[in-house]
Amino acid sequence: MNNNKSASTPHYQPEIKPRRMAFDTQPPARKYTFRDNSLVSTFFYALSALFPDGERFFIHSVRHYREQILDPELQQQIKGFIGQEAHHGVSHEQLNRAIESLGFPMSKITGAMLKRIEFLKTLSHSRQLALTVAMEHFTASLAEFLLKNPDILDDVDPTIRQMLIWHAVEEIEHKAVAFDVYRRCVNNEFMRKRVMVIAMVSLFSRLAWYQVQMLWADRHWPSLREWREAWRFFWGKRGILRDNMKGLAKFFRTGFHPWDIDQQALIENWQQRFPDVAALQR
Ligand SMILES: [Fe+2]
Ligand SMILES: [Fe+2]
Repeated sequence: MNNNKSASTPHYQPEIKPRRMAFDTQPPARKYTFRDNSLVSTFFYALSALFPDGERFFIHSVRHYREQILDPELQQQIKGFIGQEAHHGVSHEQLNRAIESLGFPMSKITGAMLKRIEFLKTLSHSRQLALTVAMEHFTASLAEFLLKNPDILDDVDPTIRQMLIWHAVEEIEHKAVAFDVYRRCVNNEFMRKRVMVIAMVSLFSRLAWYQVQMLWADRHWPSLREWREAWRFFWGKRGILRDNMKGLAKFFRTGFHPWDIDQQALIENWQQRFPDVAALQR
């Protein structure tokens, strides 16, 4: 394997710096903190349920290859990636407890997620890493949307808003780490694309199922207003998933690299754009 030399063309690479954050641990004041919309709110709660064990799985899948990486720069990036994902997991666990106190079955959902992860760990190391590459692309696209459209978080609970902004910045900073490890140690373009298709089908069905469980626990049936707003929020002109699909399409290009999508401007000046989030750094 061409391990000592960079297998990709030079690209922008920010410093990957894990930040310790002091988030408030209080539950959101409103049960459905995203515009009082249960469909939008539970989508983000379901994502938060996926994060802790999901991100620990990402770390696990990269660690399999860590010793094969001889490039000290990439080694340093792996270290930053592991530190960032570990912090994300801990913060989202804290948030999940706060969401649980609103009456949502977060422990049950994260328990089911953990079982899924145990299964994923039985797959080949290369497939596990391809799955991480796919999920990292998804989170970086979501992060881009949030940092480009932070106004959608304006009326959201401040802790959730701050956590999402911080998480988004770090997801973009480390978006190419698992990818670069994959390219150097596995480098199977067909598997990368095929696993992305499976990952997206599995992710969206899992998210929807978790949302159903949350709404069922609350005995809440979304109103017509909520369905309409949610449709616009996800698939409208400035819809979050519609935007995500554009990033997804790029992933299927042979030879694609995460930094082919220029997100540099979104993370370079984040501390000025989000001073309240920057102030939470310890
Ligand atoms: Fe993360
Ligand atoms: Fe990540």
